[in-house]
Amino acid sequence: MSSPLRLGIAGLGTVGIGVVKIVQKHAELLARRSGRDVTITAISARDRLKNRDADLSAYRWENDPVAVARADDVDVFVELIGGDNGIARDSIEAALRAGKDVVTANKALLAMHGQDLAELAESLGRAIRFEAAVAGGIPVIKAMTESLAGNDISRVMGVMNGTCNYILTRMESAGLPYEAVFEEARQLGYLEADPTLDVGGIDAGHKLAILSAIAFGTQVDFGAVEIEGIERVSIDDIRRAADLGYRIKLLGVAQMTARGLEQRMSPCLVPADSPLGQLHGGTNMVVVEGDSVGQIVLRGAGAGEGPTASAVLSDIVEIARGVRLPVFGQPAASLTAAQPARTAVPAAYYLRLELQDKPGALAKIATVLGDAGISIDRMRQYGQHSDSSVPVLVVTHKTTPDAIDFAIEALPRTGVLVSDPVELRIEEV
Ligand SMILES: NC(=O)c1ccc[n+]([C@@H]2O[C@H](COP(=O)([O-])OP(=O)(O)OC[C@H]3O[C@@H](n4cnc5c(N)ncnc54)[C@H](OP(=O)(O)O)[C@@H]3O)[C@@H](O)[C@H]2O)c1
Repeated sequence: MSSPLRLGIAGLGTVGIGVVKIVQKHAELLARRSGRDVTITAISARDRLKNRDADLSAYRWENDPVAVARADDVDVFVELIGGDNGIARDSIEAALRAGKDVVTANKALLAMHGQDLAELAESLGRAIRFEAAVAGGIPVIKAMTESLAGNDISRVMGVMNGTCNYILTRMESAGLPYEAVFEEARQLGYLEADPTLDVGGIDAGHKLAILSAIAFGTQVDFGAVEIEGIERVSIDDIRRAADLGYRIKLLGVAQMTARGLEQRMSPCLVPADSPLGQLHGGTNMVVVEGDSVGQIVLRGAGAGEGPTASAVLSDIVEIARGVRLPVFGQPAASLTAAQPARTAVPAAYYLRLELQDKPGALAKIATVLGDAGISIDRMRQYGQHSDSSVPVLVVTHKTTPDAIDFAIEALPRTGVLVSDPVELRIEEV
């Protein structure tokens, strides 16, 4: 058997400790699969005295992650600290420059600086692997860079933030408003320290930007992702969407069009009986469409100690086996700067309008939609909400986002709305 593969792990939180536990529990299995022992030599975190629910006594402690990254007895630097800059980036760059391969779960860093890091790694002949960075335990990076390498990918979609999916499914099952379920999620510890990373769609947007780069051979461009979080999704919309046979999901969609690369992360309606519509709680799903393979659906735990550490170990074993791939599946120097395009692919839309209960109100709405070039597929009027208003739902035929924007701007001028109109895209899945 060849010499052991020696790991240096920086970050001993949820994921880091998960990795330590798998290395300890499956030492023999990992050695068989890798063809060599996989060992840990050095570790680092902020607080040496913290109780971490694992025996770390055999490993050398370093206060500074960069010392782990540069250590002579480390072959692979495993960065599990997080953050789109600072010590995570500094230590990864130090590791690459010291001739180490890198494994990370850090989607924020890759979404912001993936191109620079990939160019640095490849210029130095080193690997950066990041299976855990997108959709936790789901092997989507490997599927896209390797298993689907023979396909021209047309579209990648995903529900990739378990916290948002938990909030949306819990609102539906318990009939609770957003604010109440948000508070529940906070108390259960499901939210990041900065919750806008989750509910604002930023974390999921990071993941989508990474998948786009692999799918379309483009440089990661998080700044071009159109992002809208779930904060404005109301229990009314969840109920009405259900009435119409839909569920609301925070859905990421990336597709290459003649106008450029569309990337959007936003709440969308999907058919309740589709795989995405059937996704409950914290589970993630990624859907990839290729010209030869058709549609692939990958589903599994998107976060948590075990699933995320499982993905980190897959990268470690691949490095131990000697597998070397360009960071984003093709040489970083050959990734093109994508032309970002605002969403223009037509779709059906859901509109919820609260109208004054008076004759002619519906006709005025229909006129505005007609003027915008939007035709109506279905319209449903509900019983009176209050003495003076009625909720009306409209499902449009396929139309463009521009036409919807035009209508949303014009609708208040009818003088028959009692509140702002709500519009949500209905994604074909
Ligand atoms: N949690 C998940 O389910 C999940 C899923 C997918 C990807 N990820 C990614 O995995 C990475 C780690 O996430 P996590 O959930 O494990 O985070 P976490 O539980 O907050 O752990 C972060 C670790 O980094 C250490 N750390 C922070 N600043 C440091 C510094 N300046 N020097 C040394 N160590 C430092 C912390 O030390 P102390 O323990 O001493 O405070 C802690 O051990 C992030 O990039 C995250 O986005 C997480």
